[in-house]
Amino acid sequence: MTSPARIESLALEARRIIMEHAHETPLDRSATISRLTGSRVYLKLESLQKTGSFKARGALYKVYLLKKRGYRGVVAASAGNHAQGVAYAARAHGVEAIIVMPENAPPAKVNATLGYGAKVVLHGEVVDEALRMAESISKEKGYPLVHPFNDEEVIAGNATIGLEVLEQLGDLDAIIVPIGGGGLISGVAAVLKQRRPGVKVIGVEPRAAPKMLESLKAGRPVSVGVAFSLADGLVVKKPGDLTFKLVSELVDDIVVVDEDEIARAMYLLLERGKVLAEGAGAASVAALLQGVKGLEGKRVVALISGGNVDLTSLEKVILKGLVREGRLARITGFIPDRPGELRKILDIIARHKCNVVDVIHDRTDPAIPPWHAKVSIVMEAPSREALEKVMAELEEAGYRFKRW
Ligand SMILES: Cc1ncc(COP(=O)(O)O)c(C=O)c1O
Repeated sequence: MTSPARIESLALEARRIIMEHAHETPLDRSATISRLTGSRVYLKLESLQKTGSFKARGALYKVYLLKKRGYRGVVAASAGNHAQGVAYAARAHGVEAIIVMPENAPPAKVNATLGYGAKVVLHGEVVDEALRMAESISKEKGYPLVHPFNDEEVIAGNATIGLEVLEQLGDLDAIIVPIGGGGLISGVAAVLKQRRPGVKVIGVEPRAAPKMLESLKAGRPVSVGVAFSLADGLVVKKPGDLTFKLVSELVDDIVVVDEDEIARAMYLLLERGKVLAEGAGAASVAALLQGVKGLEGKRVVALISGGNVDLTSLEKVILKGLVREGRLARITGFIPDRPGELRKILDIIARHKCNVVDVIHDRTDPAIPPWHAKVSIVMEAPSREALEKVMAELEEAGYRFKRW
């Protein structure tokens, strides 16, 4: 029967097993995030874990145990970090891995999984369909299926993070942990509540998939409708029965974060902290930025659970962040269609050390008033203040520009 005490004791064994193949990840104080949130924030950087996420821990312990039980191979279904974790663990322990991924899984993740030596089967449009295929491969080959979260031994592997954090910062007041299916927070909470019952354990879910919060309200695991999220690792429809039980027992609070907050957290971590976090990994910092009651001045660990983000999503997050900070802007307006007019505008922009990225000068749109041109300029600004000065000077010179 699973209990926090049992998970803690399995975690001690897990640690001995997995540390041959996994990193003890750094716990770094972040002055910037501390200043912005009013807590004393430490980042537990599982983004620097082997395979780029904490998933290697649970997988390494589980696959070790399965091999000890005589299995020569394992099966998993995943579109993301679990695939890489299981593939890596299987190679580390010398067993075969068959990973079923949805047909539209990002090529970078498929290649990473192949790179760890796993056999990849592409099947179905979503993970649930991939899972059904994985179940049938599992039966046919006699290889067990490694569940991504609802498994005591996977949870015990994740719990090694709790052991590490306690050694790195014994007197923490709280830890914030992202929730997908709940396997990560179950392990971390089991160890912390066993050893330091006073430490608050706070979970974070994206508004796109608040399954644990809704399940707690309902008193049983329930399914929620899910939407797209930057934190794709947290988009799960329903918690497991085991993770639900542990979370109900051990977790103090659950915070829901919006997509904008997740994007802002990713941007801040990257720009100020030099930390590359994927959306799920940045969710803990998003919660802090949004504000969690009772944590002012407290020592808080934000678990950065992964750093596997594809470059196109990252580009969007960076552009959005630059626009929000007034470091990138597009201005659009009508200007008199006279020689030298565009130059006057560009001179004002250059005087404030803003750098033009793109200019569109259009006289063909029928909506343009006679003897005018429509101008749209994208520029980078050294600071929000420089951009404000450009806008003020353009206005003084008689131009009316709209900005986004
Ligand atoms: C980076 C990252 N963080 C957090 C989670 C959530 O973990 P769990 O499903 O155990 O709650 C996942 C799950 O895939 C993940 O990939």
